[in-house]
Amino acid sequence: SVYQDQHIASKKVAQRIANLIKIKQENGETAVLGLATGATPVEVYAELVRLHREEGLSFKNVVTFNLDEYYPMAPTSKQSYVTFMYENLFDHIDIKKENIHIPDGTLDKEDIAEYCIGYENRIGELGGLDLQILGIGRTGHIGFNEPGSAPNSGTRLVTLDDLTRRDASRDFGGKENVPTKAITMGIGTIFKAKEIILMAWNTKKASIIKKAVEGETSGEVPATYLQLSENTEFVLDKDAASEL
Ligand code: GLP
Repeated sequence: SVYQDQHIASKKVAQRIANLIKIKQENGETAVLGLATGATPVEVYAELVRLHREEGLSFKNVVTFNLDEYYPMAPTSKQSYVTFMYENLFDHIDIKKENIHIPDGTLDKEDIAEYCIGYENRIGELGGLDLQILGIGRTGHIGFNEPGSAPNSGTRLVTLDDLTRRDASRDFGGKENVPTKAITMGIGTIFKAKEIILMAWNTKKASIIKKAVEGETSGEVPATYLQLSENTEFVLDKDAASEL
């Protein structure tokens, strides 16, 4: 879907998340959400906070799994995705702390593989992700699945692309301060979600959106794999859709 602007689009996505949470609540079930960071979903989270404050939307039955975290990364660091998620969402809603999952950027290297298997298993035990929301990086990455990622990849330690690190350099005060690695859910992990929404705004995303939506499916642009999924929706503003 293409919307006039990102404010309208963000409200629509937030409404869909709220509806999912409410339906699950009515059935006494848990809503399992896959969440993303970056500038793109910020307004979605702001709208969810508003729905919580003004319309009583409760997150008591919600379990979340974040896509990724830089490695190494202390959770208390200003640039961590833990800080991002608490500041933009978790600090302002009634989610239970034990229901929040964000990849751990503090692990010893030799413990990462096992940790990642545990992350996958935890999602599986809950019956899988009901809804995964995604942004897109200018390399075509989803989560931190950079070009070359396999379509069946699971949660793992990855090396960040140079362009990704350049795009993140403002947050870190220089590219040299951006971690070279990250822990990310895989393309395979994302694909197992019952519903996927990829959001993109602004003209700077227009060319990668064209590749992701119309380009040939290939690991060169990991987001093209979403073309193979029937339950993925691209939610765009007019600018991001301007090259389609
Ligand atoms: C980061 C995140 C991605 C995100 C991308 C785009 O690399 N790991 O999940 O989609 O940035 O960021 P933005 O939304 O700020 O454009």
